[in-house]
Amino acid sequence: MTDSYDLVITGGRAVTPNGVETVDLGIRGGRIAALGALEGARAAQTLDARGLHVLPGVIDTQVHFREPGLEHKEDLESGTRGAIMGGVTTVFEMPNTRPNTTGPAEIADKLARARGRAWCDHAFFVGAAMDNVDRLAEAEGVPGCCGVKIFMGASTGNLLVPDDATLRRALASGRRRVAIHSEDEPRMNERRHIAEAAGRPHAHCEWRDVESAVRATRRVLAIARELGRQIHVLHITTEEEIAILAEHRDIATVEVTPQHLTLSAPECYDRLGTLAQMNPPIREARHREGLWRGVTSGVVDVLGSDHAPHTLEEKAKPYPQSPSGMPGVQTLLPVMLDHVHRGRLSLERLVDLASHGPQRIYNIACKGRLVVGYDADIVLVDLKAKRAVAREWIESKSGWSPFEGLELTGWPVATILRGQIVMRDGQRLGVPMGVPARFLDTRAS
Ligand code: DOR
Repeated sequence: MTDSYDLVITGGRAVTPNGVETVDLGIRGGRIAALGALEGARAAQTLDARGLHVLPGVIDTQVHFREPGLEHKEDLESGTRGAIMGGVTTVFEMPNTRPNTTGPAEIADKLARARGRAWCDHAFFVGAAMDNVDRLAEAEGVPGCCGVKIFMGASTGNLLVPDDATLRRALASGRRRVAIHSEDEPRMNERRHIAEAAGRPHAHCEWRDVESAVRATRRVLAIARELGRQIHVLHITTEEEIAILAEHRDIATVEVTPQHLTLSAPECYDRLGTLAQMNPPIREARHREGLWRGVTSGVVDVLGSDHAPHTLEEKAKPYPQSPSGMPGVQTLLPVMLDHVHRGRLSLERLVDLASHGPQRIYNIACKGRLVVGYDADIVLVDLKAKRAVAREWIESKSGWSPFEGLELTGWPVATILRGQIVMRDGQRLGVPMGVPARFLDTRAS
């Protein structure tokens, strides 16, 4: 008897750990059950992927979905809806909500809120604060938690670990890889007058300058090495940090964002004003090119969107009262596919950064690879599709994108979450069925 499947995806060019190969995927019980030539197999449903590429769903390990407390900007339903429309099947959500996510109770609350409302799988960070640094081990161990996040520099919200003594305590508690927002708070406090005096977002990268980023990254690397703790340095923005991090690959992994790889100062501030304001800032083209060298040389491990929505009304406040951050979960994949189209990176390297890398550095169980036995989290992309990013397409409650009007080549055309088609040709299908991501137990290692 031939095997039967719930879904067979036929004829696509799949990016598997073997490379790019024309292979059918047989899906049963939400998992990839077979990879190979499956003509003649019985299937409840068949998806013809001829002319398309089949990738593992994107795992976006840095999103801010604002629930609870700031639901006028985003919530877990709208944020995850944007995710699946953009080919993202798992998100890790940041702790700077209201209240902040600082312990097991707040993680449990977010998990309960996501149940029946999340369109994709998810996990939540616990944030380090001055009053919980010695209790992070307990919080990072609860199901549905992806680890600890430390803000070394203040950004949206009040989570902050500004000094080395507290940072050392935070990094001493627990054993999982710690995600770091690396900007030096004391230096930025000294320099805030630069932003106030300028009154325009062009000053953002001068206020939060290269030295602010480099100093914090050196500080956290020194303490991580002293303690033997693994860290993940988020949204790297400087050429200098890429060089520094290249010397610490044994303890530190590296994230860059599509916006830092695509936009540059001063042009982005001329064109977008405060919409281009984020922390750490978009900098001059030399840094963008330095980040690209980090991508091509292998120093960068992961792409994260740092989806950080604020309403247009909030963004219209005069700089620097305007909040920092821009939405991005929905545009991560199309923006990066366009870079593939332009020859800046290979499709395989994109999959490495968007799916394999997140799985590897966070020890996610059974996600991020097109292999037998893993969750059937899949995105079908049309590398030839060409269109501009339109505001109407954006699902975020914030209702805008810094990439509006940009014509991109390469778009997701279907998103599959654990075997269920949840987006096809830009239409959402089914009901929210996201569940918490699971993690490999690394206690024995
Ligand atoms: O620009 C940013 N906005 N950077 C961050 O680190 C936080 C984020 C937010 O939550 O708005």
